[in-house]
Amino acid sequence: MAGELEGKVSIVTGGGSGMGRSTALMFAREGSAVAIADVNDEGGEQVAAQIEDSGGNALFMHTDVSSEQDVLNVVAETAAKFGRLDSMVTAAGISYARYVEGDDETDPFLHPELATNLNKPTEAWQKVIDVNLTGVMLCAREAARQMVNEGHGGTIVNFASINAYNPSPILTDYSVSKAGVVMLTRCFAVEFGPHGIRVNAVAPGPIETPMLARVHRAQVSGGDPWGNVPLQRTAQPEEVAEAVLFLTSDRSSYVTGKTLGVDGGISTV
Ligand SMILES: NC(=O)c1ccc[n+]([C@@H]2O[C@H](COP(=O)([O-])OP(=O)(O)OC[C@H]3O[C@@H](n4cnc5c(N)ncnc54)[C@H](O)[C@@H]3O)[C@@H](O)[C@H]2O)c1
Repeated sequence: MAGELEGKVSIVTGGGSGMGRSTALMFAREGSAVAIADVNDEGGEQVAAQIEDSGGNALFMHTDVSSEQDVLNVVAETAAKFGRLDSMVTAAGISYARYVEGDDETDPFLHPELATNLNKPTEAWQKVIDVNLTGVMLCAREAARQMVNEGHGGTIVNFASINAYNPSPILTDYSVSKAGVVMLTRCFAVEFGPHGIRVNAVAPGPIETPMLARVHRAQVSGGDPWGNVPLQRTAQPEEVAEAVLFLTSDRSSYVTGKTLGVDGGISTV
């Protein structure tokens, strides 16, 4: 049976880890060629190799999504290698600019006082906005320019977050960037709709990826950390990839401008 994305060509930013990784692997299983754009060379190369080993077509390109030149390069290279571009998934993101991997002293969840707006420097704000909001804008815009030139429409799925709706004093930059992604998704859907390009987003709740591991460590001593989730659990990255696949495939052919919560019901209560 043919896959849902047979013959398609996709770019997945942040495809070297977490939900981007799951999305890249799922898209490949559904028949899409996949370009992985990430600053994580080891993870990105591994996912591309896994796709190729399974008989799929993949490409990894070191890409900082906040660099316009990097984004231009990955779009051009993908279209050149695979002949077209049909979908863009913007999963690359950071939650906190000053955290040094493995260093508890810089962990905002263990030391929330460092992450309050009263104590956080401007460059930390700027970094999160550059990656999470400007990066999404650059990737979605360049993908749309390519799709318009090719003249066959396409899809864009952005990654927002439950934090787009819930204020957090230690993740203000993150929350604002994700709220921006929700509106960017709506604006681009209106502008690109006449070109046959659908633009949607997912807003995940707590998903078991490296990003969430740090929240776990900080919250585990405080009792049941997911008591506010109606489904009473976190989710696996594949559960979000399923929603991204739905929004990319023809099954959602009349859906655009929407942000779909994949959050166990948090946004409902
Ligand atoms: N994990 C959660 O609970 C959760 C919840 C809501 C939303 N999100 C969002 O989902 C998306 C994926 O998160 P995840 O949990 O899979 O995280 P992750 O940390 O596992 O993966 C994120 C990937 O983005 C890449 N990345 C970071 N900065 C980049 C840059 N400047 N250019 C290119 N790549 C870059 C990282 O290298 C990494 O491979 C993010 O946008 C995140 O904000 C995560």
